[in-house]
Amino acid sequence: MLKIHLIVGARPNFMKMAPLYKEFQKYPAEFKVKLIHTGQHYDERMSKLFFDDLQLPKPDEYLEVGSGSHGVQTARIMERYENVLLKHKPDLVFVAGDVNSTIACALDAVKLHIPVAHLEAGLRSHARTMPEEINRILTDAISDYLLTPSPDADQNLLREGVDPKKIHFVGNIMIDSLSYYQPMAEHSDILDRLGLEKKQYGLITLHRPSNVDHLEGLTIILKAFESISKKIPLIFPIHPRTTKQIETFKLNSLLEKIHNLILIPPAGYYQFLNLQMNAKFILTDSGGIQEESTWLGVPCLTLRPQTERPVTITEGTNKLVKLETEEIVRETESILNGNIKRGKIPEYWDGKTASRIVSIFR
Ligand code: UD1
Repeated sequence: MLKIHLIVGARPNFMKMAPLYKEFQKYPAEFKVKLIHTGQHYDERMSKLFFDDLQLPKPDEYLEVGSGSHGVQTARIMERYENVLLKHKPDLVFVAGDVNSTIACALDAVKLHIPVAHLEAGLRSHARTMPEEINRILTDAISDYLLTPSPDADQNLLREGVDPKKIHFVGNIMIDSLSYYQPMAEHSDILDRLGLEKKQYGLITLHRPSNVDHLEGLTIILKAFESISKKIPLIFPIHPRTTKQIETFKLNSLLEKIHNLILIPPAGYYQFLNLQMNAKFILTDSGGIQEESTWLGVPCLTLRPQTERPVTITEGTNKLVKLETEEIVRETESILNGNIKRGKIPEYWDGKTASRIVSIFR
């Protein structure tokens, strides 16, 4: 019997761990799984809604770390999770992605000589100013099982001198959730409630510090929204970090002036999938949405200078856009004029990643 911890902390972790949790449950004689939530994200709309939609049980341990600077948040997670490890003594810890909870829990585990498996290993933006890039590099360096979503990730790890025996190309686990829950998401009534028509709106998400933590960047983006919304309604589920920054920079009045921009609180998983699949285009700086839009075949413009998910550009529907008002407007107009990038679904983004992973450990 292998005792396993699955770590979740921030919103993008939940849809990556849910399929794995369910797959391990199929073999109760072989695996005993505990779900650990660090509490990095704690608002109902950033966490509980996802547990409900993804049909996840209440976490076995909830560490309630909350928000804080990188140093404070990471240290608080490490302090609290170490106690949990000492209490449960698991044989294996799974971490996902690139958030502070990922590196903090991985570091705790390896120092207690507990092997770590990293879901979504090997992705690199090569931008060390992004906190996520540091979290990725460090988590990969100390993990024992590097579970990669795409062949570029394998190449990155090999280039860094990782032993090939540690690398397992398993595919994109987030697509397991997306493909499984898509039929449920189709029943969401969010479009009716917002008065939107299919393929007649653009969907926006924005939360990267590089876009929202500076007045100049945020102003550039809001001005682009103002211009685009004259042609097509925009729907903007707004991340708590972005709400806070808009208030700090007193940009509320600029935002409120944009008549065709519908602001809503962070959406649940089904609601957001429904908004994604029916959007004319998506404008985002998220990592996961670049991948989900590729799988859904919806054009995606990513407001970042680089991406750790290059396969979404080479094979999918994604395109990077510079942080310039004119550029953002030009790219969206191009889509409205029918220049739509048709992509294909990358290898192993097939809804079977969790089962490939569990086979490794069986
Ligand atoms: C974190 C991840 C980022 C991921 C994002 C997804 C790190 C370093 N960053 O960024 O990679 O893309 O999650 O959402 O781990 N807040 C709330 N309620 C919450 C959570 C946060 O109000 O439930 C507010 C707080 O003011 C907090 C701020 O959002 O200070 C930022 O939260 P934090 O977890 O530090 O980073 P994110 O920007 O959410």
